[in-house]
Amino acid sequence: MVCLLCVLFFSPQDSFLTANTYLFMVQAQGMMLRDNVRTIRHMIRLYTNKNSTVNGTDYPDGSNSSEYVAQPTAFLPENFTYAVNLPCPEKLPSMKGWNHVNMTEIFMEDIMLQFSKHTDIEEAGHWKPKDCKARWKVAILIPFRNRHEHLPILLHHLIPMLQRQRLQFAFYVVEQTGTHPFNRAMLFNVGFKEAMKDLDWDCFVFHDVDHIPENDRNYYGCGQMPRHFAAKLDKYMYILPYNEFFGGVSGLTAEQFQKINGFPNAFWGWGGEDDDLWNRVHYAGFNVTRPEGEIGKYKSIPHHHRGEVQFLGRYKLLRYSKERQYLDGLNNLHYTPEITLTRLYKNISVNLSPELAPVTDY
Ligand SMILES: *[C@@H]1O[C@H](CO)[C@@H](O)[C@H](O)[C@H]1NC(C)=O
Ligand SMILES: *[C@@H]1O[C@H](CO)[C@@H](O)[C@H](O)[C@H]1NC(C)=O
Ligand SMILES: *[C@@H]1O[C@H](CO)[C@@H](O)[C@H](O)[C@H]1NC(C)=O
Ligand SMILES: *[C@@H]1O[C@H](CO)[C@@H](O)[C@H](O)[C@H]1NC(C)=O
Ligand SMILES: *[C@@H]1O[C@H](CO)[C@@H](O)[C@H](O)[C@H]1NC(C)=O
Ligand SMILES: *[C@@H]1O[C@H](CO)[C@@H](O)[C@H](O)[C@H]1NC(C)=O
Ligand SMILES: *[C@@H]1O[C@H](CO)[C@@H](O)[C@H](O)[C@H]1NC(C)=O
Repeated sequence: MVCLLCVLFFSPQDSFLTANTYLFMVQAQGMMLRDNVRTIRHMIRLYTNKNSTVNGTDYPDGSNSSEYVAQPTAFLPENFTYAVNLPCPEKLPSMKGWNHVNMTEIFMEDIMLQFSKHTDIEEAGHWKPKDCKARWKVAILIPFRNRHEHLPILLHHLIPMLQRQRLQFAFYVVEQTGTHPFNRAMLFNVGFKEAMKDLDWDCFVFHDVDHIPENDRNYYGCGQMPRHFAAKLDKYMYILPYNEFFGGVSGLTAEQFQKINGFPNAFWGWGGEDDDLWNRVHYAGFNVTRPEGEIGKYKSIPHHHRGEVQFLGRYKLLRYSKERQYLDGLNNLHYTPEITLTRLYKNISVNLSPELAPVTDY
């Protein structure tokens, strides 16, 4: 079935996103035939007058599995020797091109025990390479509520991967308390501000707790342009659902994030905040890059939204992305966090409500 309704949500006039993204995705998920997906992508292209591949993203249509052939990237030879004073290369022999995903539930205690043998992992999961100078200091921000079984699975996969990538990193789990709908975007803003108090992180990865990278060449460093890491999700049949999709896992330098005034705070409930971030990034003059081919693959831990509500007001807000960008974001946010340190992450617990981010009229 072709989703006419969702196509209508794509605004033909401008290149910014006002789409009903989730309706589209729900449809995409339901469709098992790649042909149908291709048709929809074709229609979106017609309606948005735009090709689904832009510069910086290297995406063929998703219509041919030959796109999955190994990338001819020049990874360093096995006998490469590191130099303590030199920046770690971005492409290392330790990055094998796959990350074995094991979704079996594990206890956080077991993971902590396992990694506490690595004495070089400091409190809050802080680690840095010793054989070369980390190219990026990466703070991994994880918005959180009510997903205690997912967190150990994610850390279990990310820590070894980031070590193989020779990045300096630490984890910030930003947990929302209180009764308001989940506000992923505001949690990221809180995480950003708190992390910057610890260290001059130069790169931020905004990471959903239920997304597990399948390829360790998906380098979690930042770049000249904001990056969308989670380009191909198993739940969307490894097809980018639409060109402006910016959900799951993304990365910006601290400077880029400050320049776009962070995420919007006004998205209560799931949906839309990632599209708004896409708009912010483009209004600030950036483009988004993505990993090529199968490097951007992710598995998602299956779950339901667990009573988390959809944010129905998102279309209206998305129409005013530009007007709101510098009224709502990092600059109007006030909060009082409760912070605890654990072995593998810093726990930033915060009770969010709309009054914490007042927006003047626009
Ligand atoms: C899309 O790409 C095709 C060829 O790949 C090109 O002919 C067409 O003009 C492009 N459309 C737009 C809107 O850029
Ligand atoms: C993409 O951008 C690079 C530089 O950022 C440029 O050299 C290249 O020509 C661009 N490619 C296309 C297809 O626009
Ligand atoms: C898919 O790739 C194969 C080769 O791997 C090629 O022969 C075929 O024409 C491609 N199909 C499309 C639709 O591009
Ligand atoms: C490293 O390995 C390459 C082949 O993979 C070889 O040509 C080169 O001589 C080796 N270098 C050292 C220092 O062993
Ligand atoms: C997955 O993880 C569980 C728990 O750590 C372990 O018992 C199991 O052997 C793992 N499975 C594979 C295939 O690695
Ligand atoms: C972003 O992409 C557009 C279209 O490909 C291009 O015109 C523009 O120059 C790019 N912007 C930057 C900052 O590279
Ligand atoms: C974070 O800390 C709060 C107490 O401040 C606790 O209730 C919560 O379970 C912790 N969350 C995680 C993920 O550790």
